[in-house]
Amino acid sequence: MNHFELKGGELFCEGVALADIAQAVGTPVYVYSSATFERHYTVLRDALVAEGVKGDNGGDPLIAFAVKANSNLAVLKTLARLGAGADTVSEGEIRRALAAGVPPEKIVFSGVGKTADELAFALKAGVAEINVESEPEMRLASQVAQSLGTRATIAIRVNPDVSAGGHAKIATGKEDNKFGVSFSEAERLYANAANDAGLNPVGVTCHIGSQITDLAPMAAAFTKMRGLVERLRGEGLSVQRLDLGGGLGVPYFNQPAPPSPADYARMIAKTMNGLDIAYAFEPGRMIAANAGVLLSRVQHIHERPGGRKFVVLDAAMNDLIRPAMYDAYHEIAPLKPRAGDPVVYDVVGPICETGDTFTRERALAPLEAGDLIAFMSAGAYGAVMSSEYNSRLLVPEVLVKGDDYAVVRPRPTYEEMLAKEAFAPWL
Ligand code: LLP
Repeated sequence: MNHFELKGGELFCEGVALADIAQAVGTPVYVYSSATFERHYTVLRDALVAEGVKGDNGGDPLIAFAVKANSNLAVLKTLARLGAGADTVSEGEIRRALAAGVPPEKIVFSGVGKTADELAFALKAGVAEINVESEPEMRLASQVAQSLGTRATIAIRVNPDVSAGGHAKIATGKEDNKFGVSFSEAERLYANAANDAGLNPVGVTCHIGSQITDLAPMAAAFTKMRGLVERLRGEGLSVQRLDLGGGLGVPYFNQPAPPSPADYARMIAKTMNGLDIAYAFEPGRMIAANAGVLLSRVQHIHERPGGRKFVVLDAAMNDLIRPAMYDAYHEIAPLKPRAGDPVVYDVVGPICETGDTFTRERALAPLEAGDLIAFMSAGAYGAVMSSEYNSRLLVPEVLVKGDDYAVVRPRPTYEEMLAKEAFAPWL
């Protein structure tokens, strides 16, 4: 459920007409709904708690929001105030989480190529755990920790070798991709870590992909993870935490309905069957995707010989790259839908390459120059993947709460854009 709905023929985000934001802030602009973020987080937490899925010391499980999905500070703070942690993959993301008030003991540091500097930063900040993805990375974590006179609390990321479906560019759990170690390697590394002066292994972790709409591959992976925990414990090793990653899909309009958080929680309780351990999760899309939209204005409609109608927007692939990169489908909703039969359009941006196409041959309510539209489900992997390609200004972000809204990342000026660069001394 989300809080974007038509009221009196006009699209609202909570109590604010989206057209008012477009008017005041200009387009393109991302708009987020606080109530939707809050609802998604709460529904997931309540579903897990209801199934007896626990966290450290028998408290709530750690729900570490995947910062990569939406790293806006105001968004992170909205979630932090509810008790969310943060799953981070760079020093920049750790800094964002800390700045937004996420306590370090709720921050997980993931990623396949952490640098020594990043590891040192994470250790000094006192993050909850470092999810190590390979033997060389584990060695580096140990060296860095010892040089700081401490031990790195680590979890070992396992690649469960299951196929989760979805787009190949976002599947992560197969043996031939770069993430994590095999089960047998995990056992060896865990035992080594337990005897390493720079390491404190506390658990194991996996993440098999994104936009997963079928619980079966997850259940298969989690069953294997449970087996690993039991084998490690059987060898006398202490395993306190099990981090099951993110990946739960969202309804993207053209795709199979994803499992509900309640189904997901039930599957976990059933698969783990009483395994006494502190659970952590790293959801991104499930919390953020349907909490945000990208607003854009129709520049003009260009009809080519043969009758193809191109809707040219003021938003482009640099603002929302998912259609170009993953053939992603985003519903396109006019802010004030016009009456009349649907018209088949190609919807494109102004960037000089064919990939700058949001959709082809989509039937939409009739559009005219100046109309405003929203790309739905754009709250995850939207603004975070934006760029200045074609020297377009970085897209701004707005957060709505009830009848109120605030610009939480302003649109830069052209002067600011140019001021970030310098001439070489010889020029
Ligand atoms: N944990 C780890 C270790 C991850 O690599 C990811 C996502 C997540 C958690 C969060 O997954 P989620 O719950 O959001 O599915 N840019 C792509 C998605 C890439 C996901 C990468 N890893 C897209 O726009 O679809």
